[in-house]
Amino acid sequence: MNLPLRIAIDGPAASGKSTLAERLAKALGYLYFDTGVMYRAVTWAALQRGYAVEDADKLTELAANLDIDVRPPSTDDGRKYDVLVNGEDVTWAIRTPEVDANVSIVAAHPGVRAALTDKQRAIGRRGKVVMVGRDIGTVVMPDAELKIYLDASPEERARRRYQERLARGEQADYAQILAAVRARDRLDKGREVAPLRAADDAVILNSDGLSIGEVFEEALRLVKAMDC
Ligand code: DC
Repeated sequence: MNLPLRIAIDGPAASGKSTLAERLAKALGYLYFDTGVMYRAVTWAALQRGYAVEDADKLTELAANLDIDVRPPSTDDGRKYDVLVNGEDVTWAIRTPEVDANVSIVAAHPGVRAALTDKQRAIGRRGKVVMVGRDIGTVVMPDAELKIYLDASPEERARRRYQERLARGEQADYAQILAAVRARDRLDKGREVAPLRAADDAVILNSDGLSIGEVFEEALRLVKAMDC
């Protein structure tokens, strides 16, 4: 039996797709690649430079020229990988509420998406990859052998983000996080280019009420059931 070479995992913010992808990649010996990191890196760099995130031309140029690198973790502070932008470690800087609030606007620019999609496809072509995002099954790797769309209710996802922030020792307000999750869903699903949606041939999993372990077992069963 041949395992699927490329696995695409899409879904809304905080649906658990990054955790699932990371565990699957580890179990299979595949590369785990979280494409949201790239949109976050461009957003962080734009805010640093004082660019208006609505400025499509500036943002497109920035996305095309920015050197974004994802490497094995250099520090044992809970990170899964290092994210470097032009050599600078931005692993935690791209996870702030300010980046959260602006990243969907940046990700809606067609020019930004084109530049980042090219970089993602190049990684996908090497195979043995579990790639996570919003448009991996529909746009980046429509020919992936296995596509999973991981869903969960907005309330469940906001609760998870809230717990994550508290666990990191940060301040958190559940109602505010829920409003932010809903706002990002609207932007991600409503944008014209590559909106968040399940590919027609994706397997849809809903993680409401399921543990990470249960979602992982179900996904692994799907992988093993495939004969590519
Ligand atoms: O998964 P995340 O929260 O780190 O993603 C950050 C943002 O990037 C999210 O609002 C949607 C966008 N994104 C996207 O449009 N396409 C992808 N393939 C990955 C992320």
